[in-house]
Amino acid sequence: MSRSLSGERATATVESAHSQVGPPEPIFAARGEARMMDASEVAQLKAMMEWEGRRTAPPEGFPALPDMPAGRYTSAEYYALEVEHVFRKSWLFAGHLDEIPDPGCWMRWHNAGDPIVIVHGMDGVVRAFHNTCRHRGAPVVTEDRGKSSRLMCGYHNWTYKTDGSLVGVPERRDFPADFDLSCRGLLPVRCELFGKVIFVNFDMEAMPLIEWMGPIAREWEEFAFDRIRLAARHSFDLQCNWKVAMEANMEVYHVPFIHPNTVAPLVDSTRNLNTLYPNGHARMLAPPPRQTDREHVRAIDSPPGWQQIDTVGELGRTCTQSYTLFPNWVSPLSNYFVPPLLFWPTSLTTTRLELVTMALDWGDAPAPDLWTVPDASQPNGRQMSPIILEDTQFGEAIQHSMQGSAFRSVPLSYQEARIYSFHQNLDAMIGVDKVPEPLRVAPVIGPDWVWPNDPRRAQMEREPAT
Ligand code: FES
Ligand SMILES: [Fe+2]
Repeated sequence: MSRSLSGERATATVESAHSQVGPPEPIFAARGEARMMDASEVAQLKAMMEWEGRRTAPPEGFPALPDMPAGRYTSAEYYALEVEHVFRKSWLFAGHLDEIPDPGCWMRWHNAGDPIVIVHGMDGVVRAFHNTCRHRGAPVVTEDRGKSSRLMCGYHNWTYKTDGSLVGVPERRDFPADFDLSCRGLLPVRCELFGKVIFVNFDMEAMPLIEWMGPIAREWEEFAFDRIRLAARHSFDLQCNWKVAMEANMEVYHVPFIHPNTVAPLVDSTRNLNTLYPNGHARMLAPPPRQTDREHVRAIDSPPGWQQIDTVGELGRTCTQSYTLFPNWVSPLSNYFVPPLLFWPTSLTTTRLELVTMALDWGDAPAPDLWTVPDASQPNGRQMSPIILEDTQFGEAIQHSMQGSAFRSVPLSYQEARIYSFHQNLDAMIGVDKVPEPLRVAPVIGPDWVWPNDPRRAQMEREPAT
């Protein structure tokens, strides 16, 4: 694991690699100014969770969700559309600033197709480039991580500055006199930070990260993305479509049945409240069962030295809240951890699951790792934790079934609407006209059910608690 940023609180910056105009803008206000949810918003969300527990049918006006076509999980054509239009156009988690802490540090990244190098520039700006030499395509860096003030391709030693510009071509005399080095810099990939977390986007025309995140950017301020350190990052290969794996983490319907002793004591699945956000993101909020004091459970589970994220508000401390950051990030954020699970498609029927733990500080205690446990028999010395094993246990068999003749379609309940909304957004991002009609989902969840709209509030006010 790499070291942290020497204890100081870095000023997070936004910088698009393709636009070098003007100084970087700060995202985060000074510590102590994190915008917390106000008391009335917290009270309303708590009341809505109780209302969700009391209702005897889906909320008034909530659309019946048509079955989703089976082919969305088994069609090579649909998979190709996802890769081209979703993973090439979305903001994707790439890493943590702790992995490239100093100017000159760089790391390879290739979780979404093209090989990329992410560089902490000598000028302090973090940028991403295709790791493809502009001469004859050799990789410019060949190690996973490194540190150098220049990037030099090993094949013929073309040399680039950390801002991507080409500054050295051996035997320059043999190229034409008008051979313009300034047109031959490394090709950029969009790269922006949310606090210390690095995101990339292959689409040079994509909206800025902060706009893509929408209301989530404000809600995540209290989780101190500008101060959290990288504690653990491991990946595992799964034998199922990436959506099969990810959807196991996008509803709590399954919690009492496959997590009776792990998650169920912490999450009351009947009182969960899903909120759908623009761009396919979503939040699930659920209190602990009435007999569980969540703060007490966490205090027992968390060894001394693990520092709580002091700005986290009441809901993050007392409830489970899990966010989908479209397309492939799911994270239950709390006052102890920012632990995203990332689902990377490696083929139609295989997925790389990346398990990340970020936390504020852990003193002299071992670095926290929420999702993996030691296992000397595994290549990286780690195994998925019991909760992750529970969530992934059916993936391979589901995929096998899905490719058989008995799997026709997927009926989803109101409680699984986060999954349906995710699929609607997949089709929207691909462009509905490009999706073969038999594979489309009907866009029945309209904007009236997407933040900031929520017809459930009015219904709850008409039906006060008895
Ligand atoms: S391929 Fe990189 S210098 Fe020739
Ligand atoms: Fe689960």
